[in-house]
Amino acid sequence: MRDIYLDFNASTPVAPEVAEIMRHALETGHGNPSSSHWAGVPARQMVEEARTRVADLLGCSPREIVFTSGGSEANNHALKGVFFASGKGQPHFITSSAAHPAIVAPLRFLESLGARVTWLPVDGTGLVDPDDLRRAITPKTVLVTIMHANNETGTIQPIAECAAIARELGVRFHTDAAQSVGKIPTRADDVGVDMLTMAGHKFHTPKGVGALFIRDGLRLEPFVHGAGHESSRRAGIESAM
Ligand SMILES: Cc1ncc(COP(=O)(O)O)c(C=O)c1O
Repeated sequence: MRDIYLDFNASTPVAPEVAEIMRHALETGHGNPSSSHWAGVPARQMVEEARTRVADLLGCSPREIVFTSGGSEANNHALKGVFFASGKGQPHFITSSAAHPAIVAPLRFLESLGARVTWLPVDGTGLVDPDDLRRAITPKTVLVTIMHANNETGTIQPIAECAAIARELGVRFHTDAAQSVGKIPTRADDVGVDMLTMAGHKFHTPKGVGALFIRDGLRLEPFVHGAGHESSRRAGIESAM
């Protein structure tokens, strides 16, 4: 019997062209991208070319892309980064009751540190009501985070409408687009978000590859403190692979 793999929302096979680029990087990208000598320069070029391609996909500037280990890290970076930069007592977050565990667990952790979280209900098709969002925003709200496409139901949330409400009321908006990037249009300005999570292994990269779009000017606490890699947001020598 032949196995047929259909569980692409869980993970996807690595595309041959991705494997080919990775083979080249494994063979030639061993330098430290921060080194200015012959081994570092090609490694830096590979990292920045990858960043430019991701930025093209999201219609943003390469400097607005921070590489991560996947969707979970990107979500943690967005939520904890806003919490620790907020400077507010009891900062308020809003999400939906259908969020992925990679949003729910960091928010539960932030609740234990003093954050308040509103969990918006969803209807029978898994959709949030933008009017509920409007009513939930308070002067203490620091971030709204609503997933773009749901990993189990496939429901696609009205992100542009929700993000416009947040923007009108002066609140930052993040979307977990791990299930939508590479499948449906997710250009940052079209969906109108300030931060966007993507996970490469949902669209044919190996696991352990992801990115967070962070709109220029948004203040976030760094996720990994250390040297100045990834615009001082996530320390650690970048991988060209
Ligand atoms: C909607 C959503 N967010 C986040 C994640 C976590 O992504 P990763 O496995 O790359 O950490 C997943 C993966 O299952 C997902 O479906």
